[in-house]
Amino acid sequence: MTDTVPQYLAGGHAAMSRDEAMSILDRLVAHLRNGTTDMAAGQMEIPISSYLDRGQWDREITEVFHRIPLPVCTSAELAGVGDFKALRVVGKEILLVRGRDGYMRAMINVCRHRSMKLVPGGCGSTRRGFVCSYHAWSYDTEGKLTGVPGEDTFGPVDRDDHSLVRLACEERAGIVYVCLTPGLAMDIDAWLGPVLPYLEALELDKCTHFTTKELAGPNWKVTLDGYLEGYHFGALHPNTVALTNHSNRMTNDRFGPHVRNVFALKTLDAMMERPREEWDPAVAMGLVYWIFPGMSIAGGWRERTVISIMLPGDSWGESMTWQTTLLRTPPQTPEEISEAEKTAEWFFAAFRDEDYTAQTDVQNGLASLADRNMIIGRNEIAVQHAHETLRRLLAGEPVHGDR
Ligand code: FES
Ligand SMILES: [Fe+2]
Repeated sequence: MTDTVPQYLAGGHAAMSRDEAMSILDRLVAHLRNGTTDMAAGQMEIPISSYLDRGQWDREITEVFHRIPLPVCTSAELAGVGDFKALRVVGKEILLVRGRDGYMRAMINVCRHRSMKLVPGGCGSTRRGFVCSYHAWSYDTEGKLTGVPGEDTFGPVDRDDHSLVRLACEERAGIVYVCLTPGLAMDIDAWLGPVLPYLEALELDKCTHFTTKELAGPNWKVTLDGYLEGYHFGALHPNTVALTNHSNRMTNDRFGPHVRNVFALKTLDAMMERPREEWDPAVAMGLVYWIFPGMSIAGGWRERTVISIMLPGDSWGESMTWQTTLLRTPPQTPEEISEAEKTAEWFFAAFRDEDYTAQTDVQNGLASLADRNMIIGRNEIAVQHAHETLRRLLAGEPVHGDR
């Protein structure tokens, strides 16, 4: 691990040093030759009741999701001054606004008069700020209360005490992180730790936003499990993911709570028969960074990157996913737009029709096995890691450092 990640320019984009990429590729080639994959020391068993337990779900929300830095959107979605996005995140209404100073701010998207949702959901751009649709109180782009109509009849309102409630918010490497508890600070650099230089090398902050699609899904832990292993590719995705990815052949590297999974692409089969000097990691490795608890960054070495942010919804059986496609270069021609649309739709359809459909069936099956354990295989190493991270957070144990 070095402080600065050398530029690896395969495909024209920085990601990591070529030596480091090649060392991952060597591991993948060995797995293909030997029929192996990166594995945990043993299997893990999790009581199915812990998936079903509504009390535990409440603790996960209040003790983890409402306290840790949560990735909520990409910087590219809100690139310009005054750009804003209103969204409901883990039961809270939030408003993200890029201010005149270029900084992103996060606020509770609720009017300080009688708690009306201030800005309807979605994105937009404003110079002047926001006006509540109920009694027309107004706020500037930093959330400061600027207008109270009929104040001579309402009575005086302290502007500072009745500004929108701020949340800690930071941008790193093209992703916006928010802490959902007002007044709680966050140390985003410490939280991302050693994975941050790798995320910076992806240069997502220089990308162009193409599209963001929303997808409702089942329970967050059920959904999470499916993001973290390639064991299911062949069975669940025979006509999509498994056409381009080997099933059950991946490397896994850990960075505190976060992981990097690299799946062996089918292009590796022919490549590994050629001299090693001719190998190109960018076309043979399905690179996915997973930032705990809910963000997957896929395809970071390519022209198109797909970022999925999956977070719990309002209740136990709901999650919400925002799937964003970023482009290295703005599309110029109808063909380039069409190619980008195809990538975005391909990912979205695979998640909606295959992963989330299966995971909804998992959710529906849990109650019938409530007295048994879920078994997580040695090859599902990143699934194990995510559950261990969650256990540690709930127990108040450190999640960075050796383990
Ligand atoms: S609730 Fe917003 S102005 Fe009354
Ligand atoms: Fe899948």
